[in-house]
Parts: sequence; structure tokens; C-alpha cells
Amino acid sequence: MAYETLEVRTEADKVGVITLNRPKQLNALNEQLMTELGTVLKAFDADEKIGCIIITGSEKSFAAGADIGAMANYSFVDAYKGDYITRNWETIRSIRKPVIAAVAGFALGGGCELAMMCDFIIAADNARFGQPEIKLGVIPGAGGTQRLPRAVGKAKAMDMALTGRMMDATEAERSGLVSRVVPLDKLMDETLGAALMISDFSQIAVMAAKESVNRAFESSLSDGVMFERRLFHALFATQDQKEGMDAFVNKRRANFTHQ
Ligand code: HXC
Repeated sequence: MAYETLEVRTEADKVGVITLNRPKQLNALNEQLMTELGTVLKAFDADEKIGCIIITGSEKSFAAGADIGAMANYSFVDAYKGDYITRNWETIRSIRKPVIAAVAGFALGGGCELAMMCDFIIAADNARFGQPEIKLGVIPGAGGTQRLPRAVGKAKAMDMALTGRMMDATEAERSGLVSRVVPLDKLMDETLGAALMISDFSQIAVMAAKESVNRAFESSLSDGVMFERRLFHALFATQDQKEGMDAFVNKRRANFTHQ
């Protein structure tokens, strides 16, 4: 299926790659893009062969935020009742397979929020993250004030939300916003390497690991540890656990069948 705002492909039949594609607007996120993104994410999530999904942009811009032109004349009633700006944004949270953001260039406003909704971020050395909404007379609207402090702590999150300043890739890695920084020309190789590796693991264990790490942000430590233990025990009912441990014991490579 063709999309107007995205390029979509698979790699090795097991990684779904989604490239945001509104180059003239630096990949500003409009309703059409977010709708198409949700559709593709759900399709990859439902595809048994796909083990990991990558969202990326261009070398200059991952996404420069929600489309300001589209929002500029909204009234409160449009924004609140129609929920035009944010209504398609939560789809990504329902995706159960891992989603990696490969970020080069600008990840600003909604672009930074979209990257933070992914399970982890691999950044090119030219990446710049920011929540500049304050300069537009608003605040982040897709989780920026909530996910940024969880990632980088209150001091840096407040600094960024209140001054609108950008964080470069080095600072983002030092602060815990991104998991790795690589040279720009290595961004897709590095991210694909991680995605292919994840896709070869047991899909069930991968989904359980994602669910359990996400639980850490929604629960007390003891509830989270109990949640993890229940999933850990449950994985002993899978063939993949038998395969993974047998392969280790017999010094051979595991061949997971995702059962
Ligand atoms: C619409 C945008 C845009 C945006 C850039 N463009 N960002 N269009 N929405 N968020 C457009 C410009 O208007 C311009 O179009 C073209 O992309 C190139 O941008 P330039 O500004 O000429 O490029 P440059 O000088 O390199 O500056 C890059 C930039 C700057 C620093 C990223 O464009 C910028 O500050 N953009 C806005 C960033 C921002 O405020 N983001 C937060 C949005 S609010 P023309 O037609 O002139 O060539 C938000 C709320 C989230 O995200 C809510 C979540 C639901």
C-alpha cells in the first residue's frame, strides 16, 4: 500500500522500517502522517514475520514537531473537542513489538515526543532534541512534560521545557535520553543491526521484556518486580525457553520459532 507521508519497507522480511517523508516541512507531523503511521505500525505489529520496527526521518530532520501551520488557527474548541492535534498519537503506545527511533537532525516538540514514545532511541551525531513549544505560547502536548523528566530528570526537563533550548546528541546520551550515538552515516546500519538482532530472539520473550520495562514507569517497585516475576515464570511454558536454554547447554546457536 502506498502512503503519501511515509516510506515503508521491510528488511530481511523481519524488520519493518518506516521513514517519515514530508521533507519540505522537515517532517512536521500532521494528522495525515500520524494516521498513516498508526496504520503501518498496527500492520507491522500484526505481521507474524516482523520482530521489530524502526521509525526514522531524513538526515536533516527526524521530525520538527507537530505541523504548526495546521494548528495555528485552531480554537480551544477545535483542539479540545475535535482533539485534532493529538488524537492519533496514542496508537504507538499500543504496539507490542519493539519500536526503535533512529534519529538524525531535528527531533523537536512532537518529534521529540514521538521519539520518546518509541522503546529506545539511537541517535546520529547530528541529532538535536528539544521541546520548543514554549516559544509558540503553548506547552508539549504528547507527553513531553511527562516522558522527558522520566528520561533525563527534572533539572534538564525543566530547562528544556522552560527555555526551549535544544540538546545535542552528546548531551542526550549523557542524560539518558538516547541509548547510543553513532556517526550519521552509520545510523541505519547500527539501528538495523539492533533490530535484526531483536527479531531473531524469541518474539514472546521480547514482547514480555518490553511490557515489563514499561511497567516500571507505571507501578511501585514491588508491584513491578512481581509483574516481572509472573512473566518470567510464564516464559517457562514456551518452546523458545526450551530452545534457548538447550542451545546454550549444548553450545549451539538457538533457533527460536516464536512459540
Ligand atoms: C510546520 C515546519 C515546522 C513545523 C519547520 N517547518 N518546522 N512547518 N510545522 N513544526 C517548515 C518551515 O516552515 C519551512 O517551510 C521548512 O519547514 C524549513 O524550515 P526552516 O525554518 O526554513 O529551516 P531551518 O532554518 O533549518 O530551521 C529548522 C528548525 C525550524 C529549527 C527546525 O524550522 C523550527 O524551529 N521549526 C519549528 C520547531 C517547533 O517549534 N516545533 C514544535 C512545534 S509544536 P517553508 O515553506 O518556509 O520552506 C509541537 C506540539 C506537539 O510540536 C504537540 C503534540 C501533539
